[in-house]
Amino acid sequence: MLLKYGRLKKIHIKLLIVVFILILYVLVYLKLFNNDISGFNLPLKFENEFEAILGPYEAKIIEKLGNNGEPAYLWGDEALEGEKALKKFALNTILSDRMPLDRKLKDPRNTKCKDFQYDTKLKATVIIIFYNELLSVILRTIWSVILQSPEQNLQEIILVDDSSTDENLKGLLDYYITTRLKDKKVKIIHLKNRLGLIRARLQGARLATGDVMIFLDAHCEATKGWIEPLLARIEEEKSAVLVPIIDVIEANTLAYSTNGDTTYQVGGFSWSGHFTWINIQDEADKKKLTPVKSPTMAGGLFAIDRKFFWNIGSYDEQMDGWGGENLEMSFRIWQCGGRLETVPCSRVGHIFRDFHPYTFPNNKDTHGINTARLAHVWMDDYKRFFFMYQPGLENNPVVGDLTHRKQLRSKLRCKSFKWYLENIYPEKFVPDENVYAYGQVKTPFELCLDDLQLPEDKIGPLGLYNCHPYTAMSQFFSLSSKGELRKENVCAEVFSSKMVQLTECHGHKRDQYWVFHKNGTIYHPTSKKCLSSENIDIGKGVVVDKCKNTVYQKWTFTNINATAYN
Ligand SMILES: *[C@@H]1O[C@H](CO)[C@@H](O)[C@H](O)[C@H]1NC(C)=O
Ligand SMILES: *[C@@H]1O[C@H](CO)[C@@H](O)[C@H](O)[C@H]1NC(C)=O
Repeated sequence: MLLKYGRLKKIHIKLLIVVFILILYVLVYLKLFNNDISGFNLPLKFENEFEAILGPYEAKIIEKLGNNGEPAYLWGDEALEGEKALKKFALNTILSDRMPLDRKLKDPRNTKCKDFQYDTKLKATVIIIFYNELLSVILRTIWSVILQSPEQNLQEIILVDDSSTDENLKGLLDYYITTRLKDKKVKIIHLKNRLGLIRARLQGARLATGDVMIFLDAHCEATKGWIEPLLARIEEEKSAVLVPIIDVIEANTLAYSTNGDTTYQVGGFSWSGHFTWINIQDEADKKKLTPVKSPTMAGGLFAIDRKFFWNIGSYDEQMDGWGGENLEMSFRIWQCGGRLETVPCSRVGHIFRDFHPYTFPNNKDTHGINTARLAHVWMDDYKRFFFMYQPGLENNPVVGDLTHRKQLRSKLRCKSFKWYLENIYPEKFVPDENVYAYGQVKTPFELCLDDLQLPEDKIGPLGLYNCHPYTAMSQFFSLSSKGELRKENVCAEVFSSKMVQLTECHGHKRDQYWVFHKNGTIYHPTSKKCLSSENIDIGKGVVVDKCKNTVYQKWTFTNINATAYN
């Protein structure tokens, strides 16, 4: 009896454990999935409240302000308030609130784009993520999509509120959608916890039902004919991921400005892990109005076949916050068999702010950490350059587990980063490949050439500084196969036959042409002078001087290409 009772008790305990685990599951499930569509059934008392806010707001909108994308201005007190807002939010929020939400824009396309006939039945889900974005800016984005997309090509617009703290973006926005955007296929989800751009986009993507997904930043304006060429290209090539030409909406006047209707750039990257704009290399491509190859994308705006998005590995869900995801996706798409293209006949305006007005979660360097993740997974040995900029991240546990992403890479049988560089981005300068010499460039006095922290894409002196005991990117120079004394995109150039500046490489030798001799001189044939450190203080720029046998004209590179110097 006793024994039996004991067994029963054991079974009971087992049952209890099972029930307990079940309850736990349910709780976890609820916690994970209640980040869902918030109800549209607003109680009446709120409705009246919202109408009381929205009515006067709409009444203050100034008709035709910013019409055709012209620069807009306010007067008197509001102009002053606008200036203050610009300083605080990097955006003239006062002006945005006065401007019609459905303002008309000029057609910015190349006139020849109008000759193309796109006959596509594909439907797009437009996914817009926001965090504390100004309500009028979000609404103008939504209105532009609704007004500029043919009904038959728009499946839905999904808004994902990444847990904004701004009250207007909760009930009031929902109320606007139910009353002003009724039947416009706009859906909204409010995330309970802030997930960051990447995971918030994934939440939106999971709800999408269109053939194609178009991700748009929440501060954009789509223009005439923007969606058709994107959909038509995806219809013909499912693995093409597309970016429109991104025009500038100015943060102060909200003017829609184009860089002319023919010139535009495509995406590149820097070894420090940042997106850059680069010129199209191929002359024939420059004139094309059909899609043009782009090595990377900026990430804010792109169109992708929905199934292809999931098959090619969506996003790296372990990337936190913001940054790096666009390069990760760019490399992955190319290396794993897709294509990335800019579509010249699709144009979308984007507000470019001078600074980020929002805080980012946890104050972590998410851009650096995310880039370290992608460097480990996609860049093979070439990650060495990124980690020269971020040595602290190379073996840092904050980078997290990479198993799943590496598995994805082998599952999809993706090509190497070397293949990507050679075939997709051959103009990308690799500091230690196909060069005469590279590394630190030292004087006999343990001083080194140094970029003096020159910001990327700025011009400044080729400096002299104490040599670092480690390989820092600021002291890493190459003598390229073209005879350039070079760092990434800047080359040493002689000005006024004396000063040496780091300026954009032009590839035509002349003032950017140098010869390194075995005896240690760095000779500049155009001026017939030699690189000199004589009388140069630490932290100042070096010069070229009459060649003579002096220690001040002796230099050594850490690595010299023996093949080239024999
Ligand atoms: C060394 O120079 C040769 C000939 O100029 C070149 O083919 C080779 O790529 C260079 N090697 C390196 C590591 O830069
Ligand atoms: C260094 O070598 C070059 C080329 O051989 C020569 O023209 C030059 O005079 C030499 N300079 C010195 C200081 O020895």
